[in-house]
Amino acid sequence: MNTKGDVTVPLLEGRGLVKAYGPTQALRGASVRLDEGEILAVTGTSGSGKSTLLHCLAGIVGPDEGSVSYAGERLDRLPEKRLSELRRTEFGVVFQFGQLIPELTALDNVALPLLLAGLTRADAHTRAGEWLERFGVRGQAGLRPGEMSGGQAQRTALARALITGPKVVFADEPTGALDSLASEQVMTALVHTARESGTAVLLITHDAQVAAYADREVRMADGAVVAVGVTA
Ligand SMILES: Nc1ncnc2c1ncn2[C@@H]1O[C@H](COP(=O)(O)OP(=O)(O)OP(=O)(O)O)[C@@H](O)[C@H]1O
Ligand SMILES: [Mg+2]
Repeated sequence: MNTKGDVTVPLLEGRGLVKAYGPTQALRGASVRLDEGEILAVTGTSGSGKSTLLHCLAGIVGPDEGSVSYAGERLDRLPEKRLSELRRTEFGVVFQFGQLIPELTALDNVALPLLLAGLTRADAHTRAGEWLERFGVRGQAGLRPGEMSGGQAQRTALARALITGPKVVFADEPTGALDSLASEQVMTALVHTARESGTAVLLITHDAQVAAYADREVRMADGAVVAVGVTA
């Protein structure tokens, strides 16, 4: 929890979010909060607005209506420069599709955020190797995304999202291409890392077994959050 004055505020909060893509109403007044260090699962049928909600909360897409606050600060009102700096330093994002840079190897993809943060190439590569190991894909370090399986690419993307020690990780179906054993391994590594560093996780998933790793679950339908509950 962050405090601002004497009012307790959540780490991240979206309120009344509305977003249309042409005639499609992707969000119709969605509200959600994420506390510091909390792991929140977002479930719901295909097309219910989960990815759009994630993009709005991560400051990647601007909502048509509603607000997004991060540690009490209005993200949707920040100038682009400050917003991209915040995204680079405080957020880690695993997109549902096409997240890795195709020309770079797994090792270079994972090392990239550290290079951008000013680490030397040698240090960035050492750390990147450790993170690939944590997600069970060290053996694929030299492969480019087009040479990896979907699941290997997802693990690499998770390693890249976590390597800078962000405050919030946004993960859109990070186990979507994995079988149940591999999902379990990846979720164990993700939850362990998040707990260790106090990172909050917004986790979109279709899989009830994956959602069970979260502290809390919210369900979306038709562009809004319709149910809120505690998992397992
Ligand atoms: N960039 C876009 N352009 C046009 N329509 C979009 C765009 N992004 C999302 N939509 C539409 O908005 C609605 C919500 O999409 P969204 O991707 O948020 O759903 P989702 O819950 O993540 O679905 P899935 O489980 O299939 O990933 C869908 O009808 C989708 O077609
Ligand atoms: Mg989606």
